[in-house]
Amino acid sequence: MPSPAPPPHPARVLVVGSGGREHALAWAIARSPLVSEVIVAPGNGGTAREAKCRNVPVQVYDIDGLVALASQAGVDVTVIGPEDALAAGLADALRAAGHAVFGPSREAARIESSKGWARAFMVRYGIPCPVFATAANVDDALRAVAEMGGRCVVKADGLAVGKGVVVCDDAAAAEAAVRTMMEDGAFGPAGAHVVVEERMEGPELSVMAICDGHTYRLLPPAQDHKRVGEGDTGPNTGGMGAYAPAPIATPELMARIEATIIAPALDGLRADGHPFTGCLYAGLMLTGDAPHYAPRVVEFNARFGDPETQVQLPLVQSDVALLFALAAAGRLADAPFELAPGAAACVVLACPGYPGPVTTGATVVGLDVAAERADIKVFHAGTRIEVAGTDAVRTSGGRALGVTGVGPNVIEALRTTYAAIGPDGVHFDDMVVRHDIGWRALTDAIGDSVDGVEVGDGVDAAGRHSGVDTDDTDLGAGEGV
Ligand code: GLY
Repeated sequence: MPSPAPPPHPARVLVVGSGGREHALAWAIARSPLVSEVIVAPGNGGTAREAKCRNVPVQVYDIDGLVALASQAGVDVTVIGPEDALAAGLADALRAAGHAVFGPSREAARIESSKGWARAFMVRYGIPCPVFATAANVDDALRAVAEMGGRCVVKADGLAVGKGVVVCDDAAAAEAAVRTMMEDGAFGPAGAHVVVEERMEGPELSVMAICDGHTYRLLPPAQDHKRVGEGDTGPNTGGMGAYAPAPIATPELMARIEATIIAPALDGLRADGHPFTGCLYAGLMLTGDAPHYAPRVVEFNARFGDPETQVQLPLVQSDVALLFALAAAGRLADAPFELAPGAAACVVLACPGYPGPVTTGATVVGLDVAAERADIKVFHAGTRIEVAGTDAVRTSGGRALGVTGVGPNVIEALRTTYAAIGPDGVHFDDMVVRHDIGWRALTDAIGDSVDGVEVGDGVDAAGRHSGVDTDDTDLGAGEGV
């Protein structure tokens, strides 16, 4: 009998990207005792300060530069964050150069990078999704809008930096969206084709699977808050906060999501000749009535979510670097995979003006105090170190920071998180913060008012709740963060 292959030793890991998602990835990977260095390309102000992490100024679109970096630095495994790098074939280029990669091939990443391809794939494999039509010209698109009765969703087929989806109340809005994408070229080639879809209603849920091409492990299901304003109002954003595990995701519902969505998608990609290695993100709408929701796919993404990663990875107790290295080697079945009890919540602090043009350059206050706390972790996205060699952090872009707190349940995690934000905690001038992250968890699963947390206004303008003892939970097996 041949002896089993030894486990990989991911001593040096490359993380590609510069957002909060990549800070969370780098932080979680760096906690592994197997890891001596995490190289982040290009990274941000948070990864620059993180233990064992080193930023290297190679951009995510520089495929040759990233392959050269992986080779020169002797990287053991590369973890790719952003979808545009995946769609451009970064994982393929790294694999062709002999590197282990946690991230799907360009063909497998089409599940995110072409909305029309993804919908046809879902139909082919019986994965529940809305009624839709793909269109290559304005006339066909407007015909589809009329057939849907005007109220519909118009999506640019390709990647459009998260802005290519327009949810329309009526035919006029849908026509405007179609013309903006197809005639005005608002998203360039990404909008040359559009998908017109039935507008689904219901709570949303993000389900992420760590995949090795054959098998998968689920991260705790999360709920995101995409609108900038409280009560889910105002323009869409990249996400203003998240929590996991979402109480709405009962074991029975998760079993149905696995059986009808996750497993068929991975089996279908493999059957098509494009096995998926990486994080498969199913963005779901829970249609129908509680508790017998009918989950349908809003979209698949070929990557981790942001900010969802900032609440999911703190809940993974096992060695994340080993998990990714074994998945990259097609050996996920050999990976220990244990989730921590309890919950995590993340609240995003965005620059003034977000999601429009923002004002940057504000000094971030309170990071050192937060760093002393075992139940709080601040992930950076749009920050920079102002003066090399100092710790002074300034805002540099839209969603500057994500503050994550953990607790025995979602309510306590939210209390901990909000208590760490504000004049006595992490803050910067004129930051944009939603004070109602988690309202859906409270109303959907628990009730309108829970133990002094009034939904929608239970947190004051500074983001403070009354103190709650959360000493029994922390973010890192005794390490502190
Ligand atoms: N939080 C939404 C996304 O990552 O696409």
